[in-house]
Amino acid sequence: MNHPVSTYPRDCWYVAATSDEVGDGFLARRVADTSVVLFRLSDGSIAALEDRCVHRPYPLSAGHREGDLVVCGYHGCTYDATGRLVHVPSQENPPSGARARAFPVVERGPFVWLWTGTPGGERLRPPPSTPWLEGDGWSSVGERRDVAAGLVLLHEHYLDLTNVFAMHAEMVPPGIEALPPLEEVEVSEVAVAYRRELPKAPLAPWEAQVSGLDSVDSFGRVETGAFVTPGLHKQTYTITGPDGPEVELVRTHGFTPASSGTTHVFLQISWRGASVSPDAGAGLAAVFHEMADRDTAVLETMQRCLDEDATPRRYVSVKADRAAVRARRILAAMVEGERGL
Ligand code: FES
Repeated sequence: MNHPVSTYPRDCWYVAATSDEVGDGFLARRVADTSVVLFRLSDGSIAALEDRCVHRPYPLSAGHREGDLVVCGYHGCTYDATGRLVHVPSQENPPSGARARAFPVVERGPFVWLWTGTPGGERLRPPPSTPWLEGDGWSSVGERRDVAAGLVLLHEHYLDLTNVFAMHAEMVPPGIEALPPLEEVEVSEVAVAYRRELPKAPLAPWEAQVSGLDSVDSFGRVETGAFVTPGLHKQTYTITGPDGPEVELVRTHGFTPASSGTTHVFLQISWRGASVSPDAGAGLAAVFHEMADRDTAVLETMQRCLDEDATPRRYVSVKADRAAVRARRILAAMVEGERGL
C-alpha cells in the first residue's frame, strides 16, 4: 500500500469512530490516508476493512451486507468479516489468497480504536487505557468534528492553555490575570504531561453553572494536560475546596489524522462531583462546543498559513511552549523512525 509522505505516525491506535456510530450499516471513514469501512457483526463485535474491492477501485461501503458477509456493489464479489474474498459470481472458486485488508479494532468506552500501522504491531501496544470514559462514577458527553489542520498543530494547541486569555476569556476565573508557569513537565520517550495550580478565586459563571457550587466562595484549581499517545490527548481541571476536590472535569481528545492536513477530532467531556447536577451534561457540552468552534477556527487558519509558507520557517518558542515543543519532537521522532531515517 503506498501512502503519501505523512506528518503523523502510522504505528498507533487511533479513534476511528464512536461506538454509537457503528451499527448494521457501513460507516466509511478516512483514517491515516486510508479509506476504511466499519460495521457491526451479528455477535456485536466490530469489523474494519479497507474500503476497496480487490477487483476494481470501488468502495465496499457502496455495496450491501448479507449477514456478516460484504457484497461489492459493482460485480458482487463477496468478502467475509476478516476480508477474505469468499465468492466471485462469475466463476466457481475465488482467486486463492485474495483479500481486502482487515484492521485490528478495539471498542473501549465510547471509542472504537483502529490500528493503522504495521500488521502485527498492535499486539505490542494496546490502545491507551481510559477508565474515566468507562463509568466508575464518571459521566461523559461527546461530539465529533473534522478539522482542516494537522495532528501536530492540534497537540501543540491543547498543550498550551495560555491562549485561554485571548481566545476564551469567559472561561478564566475572576481575578486571574495570568496562568502560573507550568510546575512540572514530565517527559518520557513517548508521552508528555504537565501540571499547574491556580490561586484561589471565585467561580467563573460557567463553573458556577456546571458545578452546583456556591459562587460566593473561592476555590483553587489544578489543571493538567497530557499528550498520552499521538491519538489521545487528556486534560483535567479540578475545582478544589478546603476538603479537597469538589468537581473533576476531564477533556479527552481523540485525534485521528485523516491526512497530513486534516484531523478527525473526537471530543469527550467527563465529570464527577457530589454537587454536580445529573443534568450538567447539556451545559458542559454547550460550553466546550463553543470553545471547540473557536479552537477550530484558529487551527485551520494556522494550517492555511503553514500551507502558504513556500519554505518551512522556524517560529520562536516561549516558556509556555515547553510541553508543546516536547510533543512535537516525540511526533517527529516517531515519523522519522517509521521512515527509517
Ligand atoms: S469492483 Fe467489486 S466486484 Fe468488481
